[in-house]
Order: sequence, then structure tokens, then C-alpha cells
Amino acid sequence: MATQNKKLQAWVDEMAALCQPDNIVWCDGSEKEWEDMWDIMVKGGTAKKLDEKKRPNSYYIRSVPADVARVEDRTYICSAKEEDAGPTNNWADPAEMRETLNGLFTGCMKGRTMYVIPFSMGPIGSDIAQIGVELSDSPYVVTNMHIMARVGDAVLDVLGEDGEFVPCVHTVGAPLAEGEVSDPWPCNPDNRYIVHYPETREIWSHGSGYGGNALLGKKCFALRIASTMGRDEGWMAEHMLILKLTNPEGEVKYVAGAFPSACGKTNLAMLTPTIPGWKVETIGDDIAWMKFGEDGQLYAINPEAGFFGVAPGTGMHTNENAMHSLASNSIFTNVAETDDGDVWWEEMTKEAPAHLTDWKGNDWTPDLDTPSAHPNARFTAPASQCPCIAEEWEDPKGVPISAILFGGRRASVVPLATEALDWNHGTFLGTIIASEMTAAAFGAIGQLRRDPMAMLPFCGYNMADYWGHWLKMGKKAGAKMPKVYYVNWFRKNEAGKFMWPGFGENSRVLKWVFERCAGTADAIETAIGNMPTLDGIDFSGLDMADEDIANLMRVDTEGWLSELDGIEEYYATFGDHLPAELTKQVQDLRKRLETSQEAVA
Ligand code: GTP
Ligand code: SPV
Ligand code: MN
Repeated sequence: MATQNKKLQAWVDEMAALCQPDNIVWCDGSEKEWEDMWDIMVKGGTAKKLDEKKRPNSYYIRSVPADVARVEDRTYICSAKEEDAGPTNNWADPAEMRETLNGLFTGCMKGRTMYVIPFSMGPIGSDIAQIGVELSDSPYVVTNMHIMARVGDAVLDVLGEDGEFVPCVHTVGAPLAEGEVSDPWPCNPDNRYIVHYPETREIWSHGSGYGGNALLGKKCFALRIASTMGRDEGWMAEHMLILKLTNPEGEVKYVAGAFPSACGKTNLAMLTPTIPGWKVETIGDDIAWMKFGEDGQLYAINPEAGFFGVAPGTGMHTNENAMHSLASNSIFTNVAETDDGDVWWEEMTKEAPAHLTDWKGNDWTPDLDTPSAHPNARFTAPASQCPCIAEEWEDPKGVPISAILFGGRRASVVPLATEALDWNHGTFLGTIIASEMTAAAFGAIGQLRRDPMAMLPFCGYNMADYWGHWLKMGKKAGAKMPKVYYVNWFRKNEAGKFMWPGFGENSRVLKWVFERCAGTADAIETAIGNMPTLDGIDFSGLDMADEDIANLMRVDTEGWLSELDGIEEYYATFGDHLPAELTKQVQDLRKRLETSQEAVA
């Protein structure tokens, strides 16, 4: 027996009886285990080892076109009551879902091994860390979990005889008949279920091997289940990066930022400032757990141990620090393969190699119209390898947050940077984020959709109750809450080009945020919030048209007024769960916009 924890042992026994694997392996997170898993995957044709000199201890994996991203329409919140899941989540009756899953899970691991992966989200043994145990029949999941979470015997020690854990069971849903050989990328696209029971804090995932569908510590636990824990216990689980910002005088502020999937969190968390004397260091790139410290301030920790980052677009010219992070000990999924045993993806280098094997395994040359890497191709890399990882990134206390940024992909209306008038207004700004959909999930890419706080796919309960939780947190801490900003790196001009250069240049906006928090920068109060003065954001040295700068900094009164109708319609879908404060925020904004419109007329 590998654990003294009776509940864990009983659950593993129960799941083994249901899933009927050929073997059970308790994972210890060791290097040997990493080697063993890759041995299995290389022999089975799932993975290739990359050239040891070019990219030491790293592996290349291709999934299949049907299994390349999160499946939001197959993701369920099975709370006892439908209204507790709310209108933005797929709800299913927990009893019915249990029946469905019991059917699907019966014998689902036949011919495969069930890996028992004890993991800690957050530094092992820390007060804020949470323990989960994932059962999975995928060696790919085991290796990714090695990087993304803290895995192994030390977790079992913390669990002891009667410690609590979140049970997470995952199967690719592809049992093998006697003697049958596994597909290189087994999955079951017709029977995908990513299921959460928030009341009993359980996760069940069937049919997919990819990313957030299968690495259950990440979105399923650290966001969907943790958001309900936060609601019940008075803290917050957010889809946010955390960065440490140091000014030329050596003063430090910590900034968190919520941007929807594939909208720039990893890039912002690791950015190389273009403005002299400023420094950005990384605490986390995707998830923040925030709790009040003894001083009444909000402190954030990164519960993860690695980066599961979007590969395309990542290069030395956009995100040098990510490139160094993934230089070794990393996993690459659905990128392209070079002829000399390395990986490539769009924008990794300015010029594409003359020949590649693309993510589907076909010959690829630069004259083709299709990208060589899937747009949601990912690297899995240890956070400890990031050259700009902050020394305090694993501090169990977390870091005190001065500012929270909200953003999304908005071609129009939303200006480069706006500061909320106060916490409630900031909460309001979070609720009205809309963003063009990306390849991070299956769906209509490019279509604008509401993604409040970047949590649409990740909130484990009624979205309007979650907004209420934000307001309640603000009431508790008052003026000690972080300042809130709404930023937009993705505004486009009439030629359809991004107006703002983004990436390292985003440091210009971070500087303004820092100076506002320090009380050293002015702002202009407008209908939509506080905006930078003309010299508040330094545009010097940028190759930008004056017209684009003006548009980025302008309040588009008409645009905002028409936006408001959509917001009211959206709010109405939440019925009486909608906090009255938010109705007031819309009304106040409408009044301010109409007043400023009259002033101009
Ligand atoms: P998830 O891991 O899915 O949560 O994504 P993320 O929010 O961490 O996004 P990431 O930083 O990986 O960026 C996604 C894509 O947006 C990449 O292709 C980036 O190159 C691109 N991107 C990031 N920041 C900027 C920016 O400031 N401007 C522009 N134009 N593109 C950006
Ligand atoms: C996201 O989609 O926001 C991700 C990738 O960070 S996944 O882990 O697949 O959810
Ligand atoms: Mn994410």
C-alpha cells in the first residue's frame, strides 16, 4: 500500500474496480518515473524524443485533430440545483450524470495502466496549498502533471492518514481488447465529459487527453472547484497571471491580470520592458489564488509549478523568457517538427525553416497557406526554468496585489487603458469583458463573446453569485483592495491592423499603473473611468500613427452607449442572482455617457 490514507486507498480501490485497469501504478514524481513514461510513449509511437543537444530531455507529441483544445460544450457543473450552476454553465442533474459516467467508466481502462498521481496545487505543505489525486490512464498526463503541479510521495506524507484531497479521475475513454495495440493518441471524441461536482468537490473527465480537459489540477480543480471553495471560505480563485513590477528606483508592486484564454497572460507575466530601468518578473502565468493577509491586503499565490503555454506567436522577439523556459525538460504538443529533431511554430523565428513536418504529420513548406503548428499548440515547461521567475514565486504567504488588470481581444470601443473609479466599478468592468474567441477552446474563432473576469469557462458556480462574491470581498477590505484597470492590447484600425505594438511595449501601460498605485501619476476622470493624461503613457519612440494613438486613448461615447444595451440584456439572463450594485453601475455609466454626449453637442 502506497498510502496510509484510508479514504484515498478506498477510493483508488473503488475506481480500480470500476475502470478495470490491467495495472495500478502509484506515481512518485521521480526522474525515473519521467523516463519510464517517455519510454512507454516513445515505444508506442505517441512521443518522439527531441535532439538531446538542441533541446535536452524534451519530447514531441502529436494529438489528433479531434482532440486539440478544451471542450466547453462538454464541460459540466453538476450542482444539486441548476440555478447554482447558472445560465453560463452546462448543468446536468448530478444523479443522472453519475449514472451516465458509471456506464462510461465501467471497464474504461481495460488493457491500460491506472496511474495514481498525488499532487499539490501550491508549495507542498503550505497553508494555502490544496491537495488532489488524479487517477489517469494516460502517461502523457503523468509527465505533464510532473511539470505543472508538485507530484509525488511528499504529497502523500502531507495527506497522512486522514488528510483531505480532491478526487480527480481521468480516462482517455479507449479501453483495449485482449492483445489490441493502443492508438498513439487514444481518445474518445464522441464521448467527452468534463464533469465537476462542486458540492462534493469531485472531478470526472472522460474521452479527451488534451490540456485543460485532462490535466485536472489546472482549470478543473484550481479554477472551477477552487472558485466554489473560495466562495465558501472567503477567498478568490482567478484566471490571472501574477507579475512583480520594479521601477527604476527599485520600488516593487505586484500586479495580477485576467485575460481570456490565449489573450496574453503568459506574455505579460514574462515581458521584457522596452522602457529603461523597469523590470518585470514572473510569479504565475495563468491562475491566481488570492486570500486576505493579516494586514487586510489581498495576497496572491500561483498554485501551479509550470507553464502550459500557447506556442504560436512565442519567439525571442515577443517572449524571450518563455523561449528560455522551454529550452529543456519540456513537452511540445501539436507544434511542427524540424528535420533535425527540434520543434518550430509560427513566429518562433521570423523566417520559417525551408521544410517541416506539420502538427498533422504532413510535409510542410513556407509556401503553404496552412500553419505548421496548430493555433492551440502548447509547450509544457517548468516555471523554475524561467529566467525572470521572481525569487518569491513559491512564497506560501503569496504577494500583496496592488492592481488587477482586465483585458480581452477587442477590435473596437475599449481604449488602451482605463482605471476603475473604485472596487465596485472595477468589478463592473470585469463583468463586461467581451473578447474574440481563440483556438484555446473548440468554437467559433474570432467571434465576440462575453467572458466576465476571463472566467466564463472556469467559474464553478452561478456567474452572478460570483460577481456578488467579488463585491463582498471588496466590502471586507475597503480601500485596501487593489486598484482595477481595463486594458486592451488588441484594438484594430481601419486597415485591420493592431494599433498597439503590444508585448514588451505593454510595459508603458504597466508604468502608468504602477505610478497610479504609487500616487505619482495624474488621470482624467471620464465617463468610463480614469484615463491617462496626454503624457501619462509614454508613446515616445513608437512607430505609431497619431490617429491610432488618438483612437487608443479616446472615449468612444457612441460605442459605449450601444455596448450598454448588450450588457443590460446579458445581465437580465441572471434574473435575481444579479447583484443590485451592478444594475446601478450600468445606470450610472449610462448617465455619465449621456451627460458627456450632451456636453459635446
Ligand atoms: P492561455 O494559456 O490560453 O490562458 O493564454 P494566455 O492568456 O496566457 O495567452 P498568451 O500570452 O499565451 O498569448 C496568446 C497569443 O496572443 C500568442 O500568440 C501571443 O503571441 C499573442 N499575444 C500576447 N500578447 C500580445 C500583445 O500584447 N499583442 C498582440 N498583438 N498579441 C499578443
Ligand atoms: C486556457 O485555455 O485558458 C489554458 C489552456 O490555459 S488549458 O489548460 O487547456 O485550459
Ligand atoms: Mn488559461
